[in-house]
Amino acid sequence: MANVPEHLAIILDGNGRWAKKKGLPRNAGHVAGARVLEDMCEVVWDKGIKYFTVYAFSTENWNRPSDEVAALMKLLRDYMKNSVKRAMKNNLRVRVIGDKSGLDEDLQDSIRTLEEATELNTGLNFTIALNYGGRDEIVRAVRKLASEKDIDFMRGLTDKDLSCALDTAGMPDPDLLIRTCAEERISNFLLWQLAYSEFYFADVAWPDFNEAELDKALESYASRTRRFGGLVKGEE
Ligand code: IPE
Ligand code: IPE
Ligand code: MG
Repeated sequence: MANVPEHLAIILDGNGRWAKKKGLPRNAGHVAGARVLEDMCEVVWDKGIKYFTVYAFSTENWNRPSDEVAALMKLLRDYMKNSVKRAMKNNLRVRVIGDKSGLDEDLQDSIRTLEEATELNTGLNFTIALNYGGRDEIVRAVRKLASEKDIDFMRGLTDKDLSCALDTAGMPDPDLLIRTCAEERISNFLLWQLAYSEFYFADVAWPDFNEAELDKALESYASRTRRFGGLVKGEE
């Protein structure tokens, strides 16, 4: 397909509703969602996408009932531990963005192990946003710069300086953002990076997302004109 996004970001939503509809506990939705995510990593690479970033746990998700938070952390913990082999086989470079310091030490260790093991892989750049909030990311970046740089640097701070201090430093901005389960909001995801991204809202809940749904989003993306504030040929 022509005009494939280089960077696809997805807000994985609707795990809870998917489970409820089936009369299952919410956690069953998270388990099903995690499985779909593993398959999607292979599908998106086959489409020609180079960067795939997913929202797995927000800075606001700590407000959920403690048993749900515990179940999500267990799932994430299992993913970090069990996916090294699969990531190596599929040549994935895995990164985690978000405030890792707010996670349990053992989870931080597994993340470090996975990131280091896959650092030199040359396939899909797969990024998981975990304890991630767009506002929190910007605040952490500014604090980091303020503690490392002098006042003249801060007074002359540029857009590029701030981009380089974000968790996503070095990654291109998302070209396409998909959110599932018919919800049409950003919920504090990649606030800075989504400045010129195209948005696509899918009706299906995340555990029902599949290649056909991805194709619909990619077709919609391919048909759009991105202007970045300017005009394109023929519009002048
Ligand atoms: C997305 O599904 C996964 C996380 C936010 C962790 P939800 O858990 O938000 O599912 P709904 O939106 O309640 O259906
Ligand atoms: C956004 O989904 C966060 C993740 C997908 C991790 P939520 O389900 O938490 O968002 P709201 O509360 O509906 O805005
Ligand atoms: Mg939700």
